[in-house]
Amino acid sequence: MLRPNSTPVPKAAVMGWPVAHSLSPRLHGFWLQKHGIPGTYEAIGIEPQNLEAALRTLPGQGFRGVNLTVPLKEIALNIVDDLDAAAQRIGAVNLVIVGADGKLEGRNTDAYGFAQNLLAANVLPGGKALVLGAGGAARAVLAALTDMGFDDVVVTNRTPERAQKLARDFSVPAIDWADAAAAMVDVSLLVNATSLGMKGQPPLEITLDALPQSATVTDIVYVPLETGLLRAARQRGLKTVDGLGMLLHQARPAFAAFFGGDPEVTEELRHFILEGKKDT
Ligand code: ATR
Repeated sequence: MLRPNSTPVPKAAVMGWPVAHSLSPRLHGFWLQKHGIPGTYEAIGIEPQNLEAALRTLPGQGFRGVNLTVPLKEIALNIVDDLDAAAQRIGAVNLVIVGADGKLEGRNTDAYGFAQNLLAANVLPGGKALVLGAGGAARAVLAALTDMGFDDVVVTNRTPERAQKLARDFSVPAIDWADAAAAMVDVSLLVNATSLGMKGQPPLEITLDALPQSATVTDIVYVPLETGLLRAARQRGLKTVDGLGMLLHQARPAFAAFFGGDPEVTEELRHFILEGKKDT
């Protein structure tokens, strides 16, 4: 049926491989309904070798843009026409915006999401932050912490060469993985940016005994919502911030770019997303 005026319904999607478990359609769908916006947001499975062709068809299909998830974020760097500063710095694209001229701009909102999640929990810059991990997620975390104004950030990783590379790129010191537990003695923010503790992965086995009582512990892993690390921190009486908020907050600028508006992260949204997560 033709719509009364010919303004096309804005379209967006998440691309990944696999993509079936992505929470993004549920998340954007919630906001579309909440704001009464007649847009669509779908999940599209794209194998890495097909990403370029898939992205190039977006303008002709009326897409405003797409989110990218594993394993496409790094591959997109060499496909898009422009990169924003965050995507360049982090070395990954989680948002592709289709310009009016059909050009594709690669952006990254993961660092924004991480920072906003901390700020929403009243975790403000100050003191030493210790980051565990040196993969793509750790790059976004380091970008966020330095942007927020943490001026004492230390990184550590099982594979020291990767920690050293990250340390060079972000001008922060790296320490040995074996020294991480002892280094917690004056840490105010501990971040797990490894995949350890995620459902199906080994636990993160690290003692928190040295952490001061004033420290906050946060995890980028959100399946399960309370990881072993967060549980151990909570049992010691430390403040904890779970990783779901990072996912929710990184989507806010994406939604604004696709559909307009300034969507909020609320308890209602968290509950709605957690309901959808039960069967994943
Ligand atoms: P992502 O892009 O999600 O960060 P990644 O690049 O595969 O994924 O990085 C995974 C992180 O988890 C890395 O820091 C990895 O450490 P290595 O660089 O040494 O591989 C860390 N990690 C994964 N399994 C680990 C394990 N069993 N012990 C310690 N660290 C582990």
